[in-house]
Amino acid sequence: MDYDVDKIVGRIQKLPTISTVAFEIIQMCSNPSTTVKQLKSVIATDQSLTAQILRIANSSYYNYPRTIHSIERAIIILGFRMVQDIAISIAVYSFYRGIRNTNGFDVKDLWRHVLSTALIAKMLGFEYDPELQSMLYVGGLLHDIGKLVENVALQEDFSFIFEKSRQEGVRLDVIEDRFFNFTHADIGGKLLERWKLPSQIVDMVRYHHNPVPESISGERIHYIRIVYLANILAHFINKKWKSIHAVLQYDIHFKDVFRFSEQEFMDLVERSKEVLQDNQMYFEILQV
Ligand SMILES: [Fe+2]
Ligand SMILES: [Fe+2]
Repeated sequence: MDYDVDKIVGRIQKLPTISTVAFEIIQMCSNPSTTVKQLKSVIATDQSLTAQILRIANSSYYNYPRTIHSIERAIIILGFRMVQDIAISIAVYSFYRGIRNTNGFDVKDLWRHVLSTALIAKMLGFEYDPELQSMLYVGGLLHDIGKLVENVALQEDFSFIFEKSRQEGVRLDVIEDRFFNFTHADIGGKLLERWKLPSQIVDMVRYHHNPVPESISGERIHYIRIVYLANILAHFINKKWKSIHAVLQYDIHFKDVFRFSEQEFMDLVERSKEVLQDNQMYFEILQV
C-alpha cells in the first residue's frame, strides 16, 4: 500500500474541521491561568454549546432544585473545571458524530475508549500537576483521532488493517506501521498540527504509543507518558486483563518507562476503575 501522512490528512474533507469555539476552548485548557470570564465569553459565542451545557447542568445527575438558566450559574454550581471539561467533551464529540462504522470498527467503542483514557489521564495528572489536568483530559480525548481519519480516508484498507490487528492480537499501530509505514498516532499528530493546537497536545497525541521519543525531553515527556499510561489502563480495564504481564506483552516500551511492581500497578488499575465508575455520567450524557 502506498500512502503518505500528508496526503491522507489532506484527504479528510469529510471530517468536520475544528470550530473556532472548540479551538479556543482547547487552547484555554493548556493555559492554567484561564479565567472564568474568558471561558464564559467563549461559550457564549456558541448557542448550541451553551444549550448543551445547560442541558447537562440541569440533568438529573446534578439534582439541582432550580433550573439553571445561565453559564455563570452553571459554573458556580458545577465548578469551572467541570464546565470546561463538558465544553471540551462536546467539542471533541462533534467529530465522532456522523462517522460511520466500518467492518469491525465501531465509533461508539472508540468514543468510550477515548473518554475513559481522558478521565484516567486527568486522574493521573492530578498527582503530577493539578493545573494541567484539563490539558491531559484533552490529550486523552484526542489521542486516537487518527483512527477516525484513517477510517474516513482509507476505508477498506483501514478495515483490513483493523481486522488484521484483531485476528493477530497485535496492536493496531504495529500493524499500521508494517503496512502503511505510519500509524494513527502520526496521522492524529499531523491533523492537530494543521489545526494549530498547542504543541504539548500535538505531542501527547503523536507519541501516545511511543513514550521514548528521541526528539522530546524535559517536562513535555511527562505529559506524553501520562496519556500513554492512561491509554494502557483504559485497555487493561476494557479487555479485562488480569495482571501486569498482559501489559508487558502488549507493549515492549512499558518496562523501559515505568518500574511498577505488580501491586503498584494493580492499585492504579483499581483507582482508574473507581474514576470511571464515579464519572459514569460522562458516558451516559455524551452518547454517539
Ligand atoms: Fe492509539
Ligand atoms: Fe487508544
